Amino acid sequence: MIDTDLYRDHLAVLDRHLTYSLERAAAAGLKLDGVLFHSGRLEYFHADDQMVPFRPTPHFLRWVPENGPESMVLARPGRKPLVVRVRPKDYWYDMSAPELSFWETAVDLKEAVSFEDGLKAIGDLTNIAWIGGCKAASEAAGVPADLYEPDRLMAPMDWHRGYKSEYEIQQIRQAAVLSAAGHEAARATFLAGGSEREIHWAYLEGADHLEFQVPYETIVALNPKGAILHYQHKRGNEAAPGKALLIDAGAASDGYAADITRTWCAPDADPVFVEMVRQVDTIERKLVDMVTTGRPYGEIHAASHRFIAEILADAGIVKGSADEALEKGITRAFYPHGVGHHLGLQVHDVGGHQEGPDGGKVAPPEEHPALRTTRPLHNGHVVTIEPGIYFIDMLLEPVRNGADAALVDWAEVDRLSDHGGIRIEDNIVCTPDGPRDLTRDLIEGP
Ligand code: GLY
Ligand code: MN
Ligand code: MN
Repeated sequence: MIDTDLYRDHLAVLDRHLTYSLERAAAAGLKLDGVLFHSGRLEYFHADDQMVPFRPTPHFLRWVPENGPESMVLARPGRKPLVVRVRPKDYWYDMSAPELSFWETAVDLKEAVSFEDGLKAIGDLTNIAWIGGCKAASEAAGVPADLYEPDRLMAPMDWHRGYKSEYEIQQIRQAAVLSAAGHEAARATFLAGGSEREIHWAYLEGADHLEFQVPYETIVALNPKGAILHYQHKRGNEAAPGKALLIDAGAASDGYAADITRTWCAPDADPVFVEMVRQVDTIERKLVDMVTTGRPYGEIHAASHRFIAEILADAGIVKGSADEALEKGITRAFYPHGVGHHLGLQVHDVGGHQEGPDGGKVAPPEEHPALRTTRPLHNGHVVTIEPGIYFIDMLLEPVRNGADAALVDWAEVDRLSDHGGIRIEDNIVCTPDGPRDLTRDLIEGP
């Protein structure tokens, strides 16, 4: 349960991470006394008085789940965080503070009515670095340019975001509970013949989210649109009912995201496709079992390609052996994304390619440029596992016209391609006792 005690434990973890990060920065020649986290600044559409939807800076949200712009946290090792909540006086918008929440008694909380007022409440910023995405705000606060998000500090801070406290895991689980309710509603609407729009609306209602509250735009794709990895439109009745639905939709809890995908088939879906969906679900669970401490995440990605090759061969889409399809890179045309990514305050959380706490980069393999994490897994890491198979013309055409064309049954590809694609995605914590799936028990597979 998310309560003040759990949040206090989280603050203790953050204090350790902060202390360590400042030590790393000092070892690299940057001596600091603390960090000011700024929630960010409102932006407006061009020549308009309407605001771009606001999202607080993730590093800020990690300290305090406060949603407004211009708010600040001053974090110094061994001291209670000083939170300045900025709420301008206004009668156009509701600026009243929310009801007392679990976090407010665990920090030193001050209220302010403007950014400038907030800076006064914060006090002296000597030797304090600024993290907050808006450089102009740091300049207005008089912070030297070299203390704005310095690399020597950002590297260890980003690195530690990979290690989730129990509070963060509970937040992701809470987001998953909401998302799963949305997925159930979406599935029912699909099976009742609903359109992409109707499925999207059912999802939002089930997840109890407004449009701007979901952590990423829902992907609600019927039939061939399932082959567009981040399909963004929502078609109406002209494209309903569907034979297959790929829905990739998340939810948020105090800024933490869940990221779940399911693929559902209607009774008139092709039986070969239905069986492929079932098999992708089976191999997804095997890949989830690989989320264990010390394992390079790339190993799970490599295993996912072996499994996908076997499914393609089993379905008769690939002629000959799965090994040959794998060796010739055929699976990459059917499955062009990575097997998953770190998950947290950002859906694609930071640090996936980081070599270590001091920075550096481990690039993904040349043949798999879309792999979003190359880090070995550790206890507390939360990642998604999301293998898929898609019929993407743009990627299949070069194979069809290339030297290995005979390895694929193109008649079968053409017959199935109006079903779009398959993806199954769950959210997993790496623990000393093995993988802990935060989503699977909430929303069943196909
Ligand atoms: N929802 C985007 C992704 O699964 O990575
Ligand atoms: Mn994902
Ligand atoms: Mn997703």
